[in-house]
Amino acid sequence: MPQPRKQAPVVIAIDGTSASGKSTNSRLVAQALGFIHVDTGAMYRTLAWYCLRHQIDVRNARAIAAACRRWKATLQCADGQVYLAVDGYYPATEIRSLEVSAVVSHVAAVPKVREWMKKKQRECLQFGNLVMEGRDIGTNVFPETDFKYYLDAKLEERARRRAADGLQENLAQRDQRDSQRAVAPLMIALGAKVINNSQMTPEQTSGTILADIRQRLAAAARAPDR
Ligand code: DC
Repeated sequence: MPQPRKQAPVVIAIDGTSASGKSTNSRLVAQALGFIHVDTGAMYRTLAWYCLRHQIDVRNARAIAAACRRWKATLQCADGQVYLAVDGYYPATEIRSLEVSAVVSHVAAVPKVREWMKKKQRECLQFGNLVMEGRDIGTNVFPETDFKYYLDAKLEERARRRAADGLQENLAQRDQRDSQRAVAPLMIALGAKVINNSQMTPEQTSGTILADIRQRLAAAARAPDR
């Protein structure tokens, strides 16, 4: 007897510039759909924190790659979120420090690190349907997904949002490093829906994404098997 085909997990890819509202909106979208939220920026930040803690020179790509090979980091899923725990510990507060923000784009530019992260990020499928936020999710980690979104906002607005969180960061410099690196740079994925949310609330941004997802899911359900 033919068995019903098992549905592959759905992946919603949300990429964009720093402080463009990826985290807030990814969380809102994941909650509304009952999907698991994955903050891939937090994964890179965790490695940056690990390097600082072990006095590894963040300008030395070989040393960072060696640390990434060595560290004991495992994927954990709790309360609808996936994160990397290092020796069983998740440095939730530490990874948001200015020290980590200042060096994370160096760590994220190392090709061996990106290879390692991509593998781990794809392993997140074991947890089910995902909303995954980052810089290269639609272009590199899950290029096969039909659900790609790219968030952006004016630089002044993004700086204002960071300042409201009590952080003064050089966002332009970080965006430049993220966009100009050789491997999997920040860019708009082919077919991504671009949302400039300078003038939008998180409810409006996540509402726009959710409406689009629901429309596409309904269309896919109506379409004959591909
Ligand atoms: O989103 P965030 O600010 O927490 O990301 C931290 C850094 O990690 C950012 O400078 C870019 C990098 N990053 C990346 O290169 N690829 C991803 N998929 C996610 C983040």
